[in-house]
Amino acid sequence: MLRKNCQLIIDKEPYSFEVEGDFFWGNEELLFKKENNIISKMPWKDRGYDVVDIFSDKEFQDLKKSVTEQILKAIISNNIPVDPTNFTIDNYHEVVTTNTDHLKVIDITRNLETIDFNFDIEELAKRFGKILGYELTSWVEELQKSHVQIRISRPNSLDINPPHRDGYLSYWEDIVNVWIPISGCNENSSLPVFPGSHLISENEVLRTESKGAKINGNTYYVPCILETKNGSIEMIRPNPKEGEAIVFTPFLIHGSAVNKNKDKTRMSLELRFPRVKN
Ligand SMILES: [Fe+2]
Repeated sequence: MLRKNCQLIIDKEPYSFEVEGDFFWGNEELLFKKENNIISKMPWKDRGYDVVDIFSDKEFQDLKKSVTEQILKAIISNNIPVDPTNFTIDNYHEVVTTNTDHLKVIDITRNLETIDFNFDIEELAKRFGKILGYELTSWVEELQKSHVQIRISRPNSLDINPPHRDGYLSYWEDIVNVWIPISGCNENSSLPVFPGSHLISENEVLRTESKGAKINGNTYYVPCILETKNGSIEMIRPNPKEGEAIVFTPFLIHGSAVNKNKDKTRMSLELRFPRVKN
């Protein structure tokens, strides 16, 4: 395993952090299938992502409430002292103050099921399917479950995954990624994406194997992309508002959502919808 410095640029500002892993350049092939892929009917197909309006105000508030309840449940079940009546998810870092406790909480929030939330995930799959012009489902056949994950990024932390493509994992090859801001999401903390990066061929990408990258002691399932033939990874934050979501191809390079807010925990939801095979 090598220790390398991952250098990237987010909204013109440079960042760097240490990654441990074995890095290699890939073969001369484009994994993103140019024809008949999940975003191929979209005018933004070459950019690889878009921001879409998806929830009404009421739906968004209900969703936020539901996320808050799940976080509170995870805190309480770990016997972390909390006043449930005054708890807000922005202030999560003031309640969960140690790394050990945080790891216990995310151990629960990474294994939530759709039944834990008060929204109809199949109805949501239909909405996104309508936008993309394909029939979508929430059911991931290879995993035998739907995917819904709360992502928590504390202020001044390395609660980030490396720059990556989800499409490297077989079960995420033919899905659409959906990233939904819930709380504390703004120009300082929102998910960064590398526009057009799904069109970069594998021989121009320096990366690790799956489960082959460690940041701050945490091993990630997704391979870390360290750089491309053009140098450092250059990302932007589309910064969707409440009620909106970023939709993107699983071959778009994204991640490393450093939270520059000094006093706000960032919470977001991550969903993935596979295409229905006819
Ligand atoms: Fe991802």
